[in-house]
Amino acid sequence: MNEVIQNILTRRSIRTYKEDQISDADLNTILETAQFAPSGMSKQSWHFTAVQNKEKIEKLVSAIKEAMLKSSIEQYRKMGENPNFNPFYNAPTIVITAYDKNSLTKESDCAAALQDMLLAAHSLNIGSCWIHILALTGNDPNVRNVLTELGVPEDYSVYGTAVLGYNSKEEPKATPRKEGTINIVK
Ligand SMILES: Cc1cc2nc3c(=O)[nH]c(=O)nc-3n(C[C@H](O)[C@H](O)[C@H](O)COP(=O)(O)O)c2cc1C
Repeated sequence: MNEVIQNILTRRSIRTYKEDQISDADLNTILETAQFAPSGMSKQSWHFTAVQNKEKIEKLVSAIKEAMLKSSIEQYRKMGENPNFNPFYNAPTIVITAYDKNSLTKESDCAAALQDMLLAAHSLNIGSCWIHILALTGNDPNVRNVLTELGVPEDYSVYGTAVLGYNSKEEPKATPRKEGTINIVK
């Protein structure tokens, strides 16, 4: 099996991270792969904000958790109340991926870029996880203020976040693949 296929098949979501930071060179490589993802009409409707400052990530996490407390969904309120809950799993790097609200293919462009980052990270032995929470809480006024402080453009909305760092536990196993999802017509 070639290395690219092997890399795709063995990537897993990592939810426990060491404190060690990833190198600037690796971060730049990962961000470059995001920029080279496919995008509708090559409009590249994405914007990436990589945050490696612990206090700034904590400030964002606090705002997110406060927003979760206001949710109509009980499960989110409970998560927001839990002092041990960190939506980014204490990863040392987060890459907030936002889209230009006026783009026709915004979500798809960002999804392709996020997947590129996860695969690039895995190929560099860096753990990663796709995190959805900012898609749900990114428009909360307090969360939005923190996003603006971090440099997420005002006319962009967060689609998802890639968290990056070194896995501190055993590599998780893939869940069994669902059957009946492929149809080949010849
Ligand atoms: C759109 C999307 C949103 C996700 N959001 C989260 C999330 O908020 N938190 C989390 O821990 N994992 C999240 N994940 C990761 C999935 O839980 C994970 O991909 C899935 O369980 C399969 O595991 P694997 O990535 O190890 O193959 C998300 C994945 C996708 C594609």
